[in-house]
Amino acid sequence: MARVAVVTGGTRGIGAAISKALKAGGYSVAANYGGNDDAAQAFNGETGIPVYKWDVSSYEACEAGLKQVEADLGPIDVVVNNAGITRDTMFHRMKPEQWTSVINTNLNSLFNMCRPVIEGMRARRFGRIITISSINGQKGQMGQTNYSAAKAGEIGFTKALAQESAKSGITVNAICPGYIATEMVKAVPQEVLERNILPQIPVGRLGEPEEVARCVVFLASDDAGFITGSTLTANGGQYLA
Ligand code: CAA
Repeated sequence: MARVAVVTGGTRGIGAAISKALKAGGYSVAANYGGNDDAAQAFNGETGIPVYKWDVSSYEACEAGLKQVEADLGPIDVVVNNAGITRDTMFHRMKPEQWTSVINTNLNSLFNMCRPVIEGMRARRFGRIITISSINGQKGQMGQTNYSAAKAGEIGFTKALAQESAKSGITVNAICPGYIATEMVKAVPQEVLERNILPQIPVGRLGEPEEVARCVVFLASDDAGFITGSTLTANGGQYLA
């Protein structure tokens, strides 16, 4: 039977590429999304991948959503924590809401998504937890104290849960993409992108969502069973972690 994978933020950007790549790899995929119904319906029409709307910053919503996915598709083998938001601003201008929304959606979602499924994975002695962190969790980024803190926290979560889960056949890994051509990066002011960011990428271009998706497919595979607690960097050489 096909393994079941759930991808948060799985209908747009990097998440959509991940959902499609896992489906092409033979997984039964559930694509979670938070708010953009039109994009989710278009994605579902294009790919046939079922879409599920819930807010990953809510524990109760994750519990209920994951239960629905398991009722529809079967026990969850792979969780891809991809959903993320930015609320970029300098720290001296940051509002409490800009801090907490980023921490809740990007970091607290890892607890909300993994806690409900970890006992089942342990009982079945197989699991793959893959979190899309960021270059900016590794190096820090001006304008992103909230996002950098959340993304660095994701790496710590990954390392700790990997140690707890290794004996149960569950691997836990993070991927740190650099600047990828998605709506999130296109929201960066154009002159900042051209003057400050692109010149720092030795490969000389933004990354493609599919380049991150291929990393996920590898980490989800049986071939990656010896890789756990690791951080896979995919940033065009921008930061050598
Ligand atoms: N790297 C280097 N320098 C940067 C920079 C960056 N990423 N972003 C801004 N700067 C520089 C600007 O060029 C500017 O320099 P000068 O004073 O020499 O002109 C200075 O910082 C101030 O910038 P602004 O004039 O834009 O000031 P602001 O207060 O209006 O905004 C900011 C500051 C919020 C940091 C804004 O510039 C911004 O949003 N920058 C982009 C931040 C960023 O890189 N976000 C990543 C989004 S993509 C993502 O998060 C995905 C991922 O995982 C990689």
